[in-house]
Amino acid sequence: MSYVVETWELTKVFKKGHVKAVDAVNLRIPKGAIYGLLGHNGAGKTTLLHLLMGMLLPTAGGGTVVGYDMVKESSLVRKSVGFMPENYGLYDYMKVDEFLEYLADLNGIPRSAAKTTIRMLLEEFNLWDHHSKKCGQLSRGMRQKLLVISMLLKEPELLIMDEPTLGLDPLAAREFKELIVRLSAKEGKTIIFSTHLLQEIGGLCSHVGIMYMGKLLIQGEVENIKKRFLKKQGYMITVEAHPLDEAYKLLGDQLQEQVALNRGRILIYAHSDVREAIFDLLASHGIKVRDLHLEIPSLEQIFHKYYRGEC
Ligand SMILES: Nc1ncnc2c1ncn2[C@@H]1O[C@H](COP(=O)(O)OP(=O)(O)OP(=O)(O)O)[C@@H](O)[C@H]1O
Ligand SMILES: [Mg+2]
Repeated sequence: MSYVVETWELTKVFKKGHVKAVDAVNLRIPKGAIYGLLGHNGAGKTTLLHLLMGMLLPTAGGGTVVGYDMVKESSLVRKSVGFMPENYGLYDYMKVDEFLEYLADLNGIPRSAAKTTIRMLLEEFNLWDHHSKKCGQLSRGMRQKLLVISMLLKEPELLIMDEPTLGLDPLAAREFKELIVRLSAKEGKTIIFSTHLLQEIGGLCSHVGIMYMGKLLIQGEVENIKKRFLKKQGYMITVEAHPLDEAYKLLGDQLQEQVALNRGRILIYAHSDVREAIFDLLASHGIKVRDLHLEIPSLEQIFHKYYRGEC
């Protein structure tokens, strides 16, 4: 499989503070992914993203970003990738359209083509009504959208955003997430964004990477992470059956697994997903199965287990 971003043992040590901010990270980000890089303050997210953009040199390891070597070809990476930094700067005294024209100029986009693209993008993002306002007069949500537009000017296949929803109110944050989904679904863009908020990830990201003290503890497709977690931690299956006592006794006698009774339900702690065997066993003894399901852990539960070092 080819990846839009791939790193090998990527490491950054800040000599001054003796901090290993990024510690042997092997990122694998497939094309079209919405990849959420999750981690507490100081986990190393910003440092990692700066390494990808060639804004910092690695102490060890390396990688490729959109096919370019992140060290030797960092100028090509910066040219092709849209990047929204954590502490971005807008030229507050510039008008919105002037600011975008200026950026287009910096990116070598011909002026007439730029004007058409800028109008199209401002309309698409509902900012056209504000095009002659000064950047400093925009609300935070509008500024975020303007920054996305500024990334899109050079038509990048990869967008990297550092804490893009920081400081947005819930409505603006939701709008922003919808925008990310649209860019991914409609235009097939690969999107990486960092966040320290778990709720930013659920339902939005196809992939997630959890960082802790410079290390990438786990990464992959959200569904796969859940499956891997289940394999490691065990499966909890809940059964509601009638008659309950009979079902409980039968399962306790016949299954190798740990069986418990809790508030009218039978709980089974298993090493694999044995739902079918449970159903067959109960049915063959004429016991009615009212409910039989696997407890799927939430990303939050998984996240906290990893953080507490329980995985
Ligand atoms: N220029 C620097 N010099 C020395 N240490 C640094 C430098 N930049 C970052 N660090 C340290 O590296 C570690 C990782 O910082 P980084 O900013 O990458 O974390 P982060 O996950 O982005 O955190 P946040 O959620 O607060 O933005 C921290 O311990 C930080 O103090
Ligand atoms: Mg940061």
